[in-house]
Order: sequence, then structure tokens, then C-alpha cells
Amino acid sequence: MIEHAHAYTPALGDATSRRGEFGKTAVWFFRALLLIPFVLMGPEIVSLVLGRPGAAANVSASVADVLGTSTFTIFITMLAVTPVHTITGWRWHVILRRDYGIAMFATAATDLTLAATTTGDTFPGTVLTRVGGHTFLVAGTLSTLLLIPLVATANRSAQQWLGRHWKSVQRLTYVVWGTVLIHLFLLFGLTTIFLYALAVSAPLALMRIPPVRRRWDRARRAGTHRVLRASVAIVLAAVFVSGYAPLVNELAVKGGAAFVQHPARD
Ligand code: HEM
Repeated sequence: MIEHAHAYTPALGDATSRRGEFGKTAVWFFRALLLIPFVLMGPEIVSLVLGRPGAAANVSASVADVLGTSTFTIFITMLAVTPVHTITGWRWHVILRRDYGIAMFATAATDLTLAATTTGDTFPGTVLTRVGGHTFLVAGTLSTLLLIPLVATANRSAQQWLGRHWKSVQRLTYVVWGTVLIHLFLLFGLTTIFLYALAVSAPLALMRIPPVRRRWDRARRAGTHRVLRASVAIVLAAVFVSGYAPLVNELAVKGGAAFVQHPARD
């Protein structure tokens, strides 16, 4: 989607510039959140690099929980950018779509690298067993590898070079959405994390259905159906939060244990 920047017009006065300032601060706040996974995993990774005893076992116990949950949370937040624009008309946050996409790749690539090197206690065998010895591992590895073309083309020169094909490459995001859900279904079945993943995905998928998105956009611009739009937005937000909150809680619990280097071995 091509975003049109609003030119600043003095006639709109201070309200516009205050909103601009708020947007800038909020964008940096959301960018700062992206450091959390690396802060949480930092102590265990440093111990691993320093070759401390038990370090590999700690990383092995934490990696999928902390980096898997982080990668998924970042992914979902990235996928929320466009629906939030459709619903509210805001633009200040649209820049976060690219930042979150790149950060998602960073956490997923770290996840894959650490899984390939440290999880021999859980998945004995070679590096190939550690990244592909089970169908759920194949789905996780494939999701991570599919992010490479997405990140490699998340810049202006790739956009110019690919022209109208750029959008087709970016549609790989939807394939990743599918492979991540398969990864989680194979791991959890119809319980916990997979159900949270469905709850966060449903509203984001609904708002992407072209007729829904078009009608919402038209009503928002025309200022019609206010009560209906507000009610639907509240229901969608509630469904989203019912999945997002337990995911954040999972990250806080598992991430906290990783940070103090006492991960639970499950
Ligand atoms: C886009 C990439 C990926 C995403 C979004 C993702 C997401 C997740 C999530 C949300 C969980 C649940 C964590 C929890 O129980 O707290 C998980 C678990 C897991 N993931 Fe991934 N993952 C990805 C890539 C990978 C890769 C590359 C591997 C290994 C090769 C992997 C292996 C695992 C394993 C073994 C678990 C189970 C952990 C446990 O319950 O102890 N994942 N993943």
C-alpha cells in the first residue's frame, strides 16, 4: 500500500504539530520494545559465548519459548499496523510495519541459529535433526527462511527494481502466517498458544478481506456508521487482546526466567 504523507499546513496549526510530536515519541517507544527479546536472552547468550558450564542447556531450554514467543508477538504487531490504519485512519504508526518486519527476522534468525547449535539435549542427532527432525521444527525453520526474501526486499531500491512484482513478494507474509500457525498447531494442538494465535489472527485477517476493508475505509472517510464501527472495533480489539495478553504474559514469565538464567526445563 502506498502511503501519502500529509504536508504540514500552518493553517492546521499547533494541533497537527502536537500530533506529529506525539507520533514521533510513540514510534520510538514501539521501536524500543523491539530490544526486549535480546535483553531477555542476553545473559544466557553471553554465558554461552563465554563457555560457562550449563550455558548451552539454559539457552536450549529458553530459546524456543522466549524467541519463539517474541518473534510471534512482533509478527502479530506488524500485522496489526494496516488494520489499525483502516479502523482509525492513523498514519503515524505505519512506519512501524517495516521496523517490526526487520526485527521479526532478527529474532527468528537468532532463534534458528541458537536452535541449530544448542538443542542437542532435546533433539539428539545432527544440526539437521535440530532444525528439521520433527514436522513442527520444519514449519518453524521454513517460516524463518521465508522471511529472508521479505527482509531482503524491504527497502526502496528493491521496491523500484521489482516494480509491480514487489507486492507479490511481500505477499509471502501470508504464507509465513500460515506456516507459523501450522508450527503452533503441531506443537500445541487445539490448546493454549495455538488458540491465542487464532484469537490474535482472526481480527487481523477479517480486516484484510477486501470488501470489509473497502467498506470500512469508505464509511470512515464519509464519517458514517459511527456506532456500528465503534462497536465492531471494540469486539475486534477484545478478541485480539484475549490472545495477545496471554502471549505477553508467557513472554514475561519465560523471559524473566531466562534473564536470571533459571529457565524451566519442560
Ligand atoms: C518465524 C519463526 C517462528 C515463530 C513465529 C515461532 C513461534 C513459536 C511460539 C509462539 C512458540 C511457543 C513458545 C512457548 O511455549 O512459550 C514456539 C515454540 C517452539 N518453537 Fe517456534 N517459532 C519460530 C521458529 C522456530 C524455529 C526456527 C525452531 C527450531 C528450529 C522452533 C522451534 C520451536 C520449539 C521446539 C518450540 C516448543 C518449545 C517448548 O514448548 O518448549 N521455532 N515457537
